[in-house]
Amino acid sequence: MILETSRLVLRPLVLEDHKDIQKHFPHWDVVKYLSKNAIKWPYPDDGAEKFLRNIALPAMARGDDWYWGITRRDKPDEVIGVIHLRRDTASGNRGLWIAQEHQGSGYMKEALEAVNDYAFGALGFDKLVIKNAADNEASRQLKIKTGAEMLETRPATHYLGGSAQQEVWQLTAEKWNAFKVMRDFTRAALTGGANAVKTLFCKAQAYMGIRPAADIPHDDTSVKGSSPHRQTAAKTRGHFATKARRQKCRPPAPFNGFNAAFKRNSYAFVPRP
Ligand SMILES: CC(C)(COP(=O)(O)OP(=O)(O)OC[C@H]1O[C@@H](n2cnc3c(N)ncnc32)[C@H](O)[C@@H]1OP(=O)(O)O)[C@@H](O)C(=O)NCCC(=O)NCCS
Repeated sequence: MILETSRLVLRPLVLEDHKDIQKHFPHWDVVKYLSKNAIKWPYPDDGAEKFLRNIALPAMARGDDWYWGITRRDKPDEVIGVIHLRRDTASGNRGLWIAQEHQGSGYMKEALEAVNDYAFGALGFDKLVIKNAADNEASRQLKIKTGAEMLETRPATHYLGGSAQQEVWQLTAEKWNAFKVMRDFTRAALTGGANAVKTLFCKAQAYMGIRPAADIPHDDTSVKGSSPHRQTAAKTRGHFATKARRQKCRPPAPFNGFNAAFKRNSYAFVPRP
């Protein structure tokens, strides 16, 4: 599957990519945080070709691994990095690298947004377990900046560069969707104007467990209890539900900002079932 972003095209690796991989991959700053179980070092002259022929292409053909070559739109013939997605979680669901001269340009984050969408969408992953050497700051930032949460740090002995700790992270489909809404919200608020914010506000209902009160039955009994305060809260939610149903749960125009939207539309924070 070919994935496209504003600056990149990610396409499945083919055997001919061995020349680009052989050029960009065997550099200490690219490999030092990778596993010595997977990479021979020093890297042999035919390392990339053997990797493609014996590992990547057969794994893709079996159907549980996806290897994308990262190319730029303005130079589509050259693979400058690789993203590997796999069902097997033993070493994490993902591996990646990008050529030294392109690191820090935002390419990997951009590429991962497309891969995450594909993994959680078309491929139906419910979560990704992803790992990095604890001192690999670029890789941990990449996880933080794409919505992952850290599960644990544990001792490790398999890194080529000798890192002694490994971080294990998780990104669930739910977190990814929530993360995207917040990201788009922020972008829209900064650049897109009121209509863009309004659309995203509605999307947030589905993704983030913020449901419009219209979803709550008028006789909602989820807020039960002896306390008068809780009973009032239940009544209030019922009242909001009726009101929001009448409004067909659509933010009315003009949209005057978050506070106004919450007041007018009676949005309620309720846990997802
Ligand atoms: C890890 C790696 C893939 C990151 O790719 P990249 O293209 O440099 O990352 P990006 O430019 O997309 O940066 C993503 C975010 O991380 C931040 N970041 C990247 N490198 C960073 C660093 N060294 N220190 C702090 N933050 C960093 C960026 O600022 C960016 O955040 P922003 O969107 O808020 O600006 C790349 O450094 C690499 O290939 N390293 C060698 C191989 C490797 O370590 N693979 C990972 C194994 S787990």
